[in-house]
Amino acid sequence: MATISLRNINKTYGDNPPVIDGLNLDVQKGEFVVFVGPSGCGKSTLLRMIAGLEEISGGDLHIDGERANDLHPSERGIAMVFQNYALYPHMTVGANMGFALKLAGMDKRQINEAVGRAAEVLHITHLLHRKPAALSGGQRQRVAIGRAIVRQPKVFLFDEPLSNLDASLRVQMRIELARLHSELGTTMVYVTHDQVEAMTLGNRIAVFNQGKLEQVGAPISLYKEPRSTFVAGFLGSPKMNFLACQTVGEATDSLMLKVGSTQGLALARTPVAGMPADVTLGIRPEHVRLVLPSDGLRARVELVENLGDTQLVHAALAGCSEAFSIRLPGDSATPNVGETVGVQIDASRALLFDRGGRALGLG
Ligand SMILES: Nc1ncnc2c1ncn2[C@@H]1O[C@H](COP(=O)(O)OP(=O)(O)O)[C@@H](O)[C@H]1O
Ligand SMILES: [Mg+2]
Repeated sequence: MATISLRNINKTYGDNPPVIDGLNLDVQKGEFVVFVGPSGCGKSTLLRMIAGLEEISGGDLHIDGERANDLHPSERGIAMVFQNYALYPHMTVGANMGFALKLAGMDKRQINEAVGRAAEVLHITHLLHRKPAALSGGQRQRVAIGRAIVRQPKVFLFDEPLSNLDASLRVQMRIELARLHSELGTTMVYVTHDQVEAMTLGNRIAVFNQGKLEQVGAPISLYKEPRSTFVAGFLGSPKMNFLACQTVGEATDSLMLKVGSTQGLALARTPVAGMPADVTLGIRPEHVRLVLPSDGLRARVELVENLGDTQLVHAALAGCSEAFSIRLPGDSATPNVGETVGVQIDASRALLFDRGGRALGLG
């Protein structure tokens, strides 16, 4: 187990703008930290810099208190698992898993012991004599993880390890990885663009936006208290609804908003001083109820997706151009397409942002 400390880390390629820009982050001993963000925001680059596969242009990397910028990858005590788990096709699973130890000159009995232990943890003991061609995608990914485990690294780095698997295997492997972390207790850094993996696997999530950290925190605190529309919109599916609003009045304990061009909404919340006139209201699909048109914001139902356990209603709010979705329980009445409904927003869950996307405090 090890700590990782990143101080003012920069990465530039040639004269291009930085790919990683003054990044600071501390990963605690035994922690599972997930790097999440859209494609191209620099997640893999940072992970590869931690591993030593990519040079650090500026700043300091410490692993377990030791400056690691210039350490060779093999001296960092790190094992990395990639999306493409290139296994040697002519070797058995066991030989694949033990290969790095063999290269390091470990004796055969010790290698067999290490491979056996890792295989047990991963439930692949029965596969040790097979060749990779005779494995499913999920089993191959387990072997790739096994290859990393046998080296008993201080830190595991994962770069989108489940992206090549089909949906049901991804769910299964996600649970396996969470179990693996609690069994091994090793420090893990995990890159993904999948917000569900981030929400379920991480002790903490670091949300990346164009080479910078947008927000770092426990999954549920990022979900409930995003500091920006970027984080709010990234976590949660379907994503949070955003509506352009104007603040039109303030009482001591409520805020009057004009939603779109025609409708008014009173939020029973204490407004902060200096609330700007133009704001963005954020509300998650599960924090909206359907009511009579006279009792809420008027909306026209455009599409209903029935997933069995839930129904997703896509609606157009009168006077608004933004898409709006509502999550209903699976067994509640299904509205008709074309019907006018009332939309009631749970004011206690509503978030406000300025037009730059920064969260505004509400009492
Ligand atoms: N060798 C390279 N030369 C120039 N630009 C690169 C190189 N590798 C990555 N980049 C750029 O760095 C940015 C971040 O890439 P990457 O870390 O792979 O993003 P992510 O893993 O978040 O999808 C991208 O804009 C990519 O084009
Ligand atoms: Mg990547």
